[in-house]
Amino acid sequence: MTPKDYMDRESRYGAHNYHPLPVVLDRGEGAFVWDVEGKKYYDFLSAYSAVNQGHCHPKIVNALVEQAQKLTLTSRAFYNSVLGEYEEYITKYFGYDKVLPMNTGAEADETAIKLCRKWAYQKKGIEDNKAKIIVCENNFHGRTTTIISMSTDPVAKNEFGPYTPGFEIIPYNDINALEKALQDPNVAGFLFEPIQGEAGVFLPDEGYLKKSYDLCKKHNVLYIADEVQTGIARTGKLLACDHENVKPDILILGKAISGGVIPVSAVLANDEIMLCIKPGEHGSTFGGFPLAGKVAMAALEVVKEEKLAERAEYLGKIFRDQMKSIKSDMIELVRGKGLLNAVVINPKNGKEAWDVCVEMANNGVLAKPTHQHIIRFAPPLVISEEDLLDACERIKASLAKFE
Ligand SMILES: Cc1ncc(COP(=O)(O)O)c(C=O)c1O
Repeated sequence: MTPKDYMDRESRYGAHNYHPLPVVLDRGEGAFVWDVEGKKYYDFLSAYSAVNQGHCHPKIVNALVEQAQKLTLTSRAFYNSVLGEYEEYITKYFGYDKVLPMNTGAEADETAIKLCRKWAYQKKGIEDNKAKIIVCENNFHGRTTTIISMSTDPVAKNEFGPYTPGFEIIPYNDINALEKALQDPNVAGFLFEPIQGEAGVFLPDEGYLKKSYDLCKKHNVLYIADEVQTGIARTGKLLACDHENVKPDILILGKAISGGVIPVSAVLANDEIMLCIKPGEHGSTFGGFPLAGKVAMAALEVVKEEKLAERAEYLGKIFRDQMKSIKSDMIELVRGKGLLNAVVINPKNGKEAWDVCVEMANNGVLAKPTHQHIIRFAPPLVISEEDLLDACERIKASLAKFE
């Protein structure tokens, strides 16, 4: 089959809910992927920061294979020999009393919303059905009906109504707007991304995380961090909230918890909050299945063993310096933290970020625009310095094509 055959087949039989670059991938290892014709690429998207540990990390794949030969899934109607071990491991790893395991990021966000509402009625004393959650403009928390109800992206939201009520949307990185919204006694939680990834890698001002945390504490409002994309070492710390030493009341994780091997997500909180959900009130067939537990423990071990947070911090600075040194009037701005970075592209002669990404793919670097004019660069954190520099040269050469 030719690459075109693969693409045509997806287009013929699959829903058209994505618009991929014309590259057909077949194999991955570390920071690299290969297409069906054997061409090698740097993966600078890492499955939207799920593959932080690199493609097919042997330790994680071994954990998967070993457990898959023993026991994959049990009903949560029974106990199993892995779940408790995993729950102890992940709660100690992130410093919380309890975890509620789910599968995708969106499900973890949904779980956090439900948990926050339960807490609002049981602990904060908000009247039934009146709880509000503050969220930020340009957020991205996933694709379910409730989550798109709080989205401000018309593409994600339009014609999917009616929407779930109970959210108040304020501008991101605006402490005054948060302080004002918190005056409402029915506010139960503030749900935010410490860096807005999908929106185009928007960093809040320094001090925003700490100030917003303090305000939430003052008003007895749960501080709920969606670290599905920023978590697990991506931004140069284990969690992006660690940059300002704030500890969310509810922490939402996904993607790289499994190193991109299987869908694993998690919601972490202390007993005061987590025990508001009782047996039968929430769950998922696959949430916390034995395969997930073993894979996640291996993936989280790799993060520590290979010092991925430190690597992201170190390599991120090099990457941004390299991008800033490129002489191209197509580069409007370079921003990011750790290895979660973005380059804002000025269109030139009708050529846009998409065209730059196609040219980069020709030169062996895969990335994709988010919101038309922003290219996100997020390679696996295991990439070597030498490879990172080589990839930067290829990005430079790609931009030079448009001069
Ligand atoms: C911050 C954030 N939250 C939630 C999600 C949704 O995760 P999933 O696609 O696994 O549902 C994403 C996905 O990109 C994300 O970036």
